[in-house]
Amino acid sequence: MAKILIVYYSRKGENYWNGGLKNIAKGNTERVAEFIQKAVGGDLFEVDTVKPYSESYMTCIEEAKAELRADARPEIKAFPDNFEDYDTIFVGYPNWWGTMPMCMFTLLEKYDFTGKTIIPFCTNEGSGMGSSERDLQKICKGAVLKKGLSIHGAEAENSESKVALWAKKSV
Ligand SMILES: Cc1cc2nc3c(=O)[nH]c(=O)nc-3n(C[C@H](O)[C@H](O)[C@H](O)COP(=O)(O)O)c2cc1C
Repeated sequence: MAKILIVYYSRKGENYWNGGLKNIAKGNTERVAEFIQKAVGGDLFEVDTVKPYSESYMTCIEEAKAELRADARPEIKAFPDNFEDYDTIFVGYPNWWGTMPMCMFTLLEKYDFTGKTIIPFCTNEGSGMGSSERDLQKICKGAVLKKGLSIHGAEAENSESKVALWAKKSV
């Protein structure tokens, strides 16, 4: 049986929500990650940055834009243990300026994906997966990339059945 890892980044705090701003205690992507684990099992790993992003949505937007422009690789607090043991890796993130937050690049560039399958999922406020799947294909050398799932962030908490169906079909 495939050994599954669900690795994700998700930001709590003030976020854009159906056209307004709202404080969320649990990130949208984290909710989806938990639904995946419930549906197909596997180990969860949350990516966290050494330097936290601002809790203020507007400030975070600017921080993220600067990182994207600089093609930055923000330091992350930890890497998953025994990464080489996993063959199926769900990779989750919010859409930030059309792709993954740069800390996901920091993480993923570290590994050799030969023989591994990546299944991406992305929460967003309307831009879908953006260019993230193309970016994943570029940086995850050797990986087989399966079709990703885009979830509208504000609907993440009500997405369990859709997520479970997709996750079960994908593994
Ligand atoms: C820095 C930043 C940039 C964002 N850029 C986009 C974007 O380009 N397109 C989009 O649809 N949503 C964008 N969003 C909205 C998030 O993708 C959306 O709220 C997502 O569900 C947040 O997930 P999280 O709670 O797991 O962090 C952005 C949010 C932030 C904080």
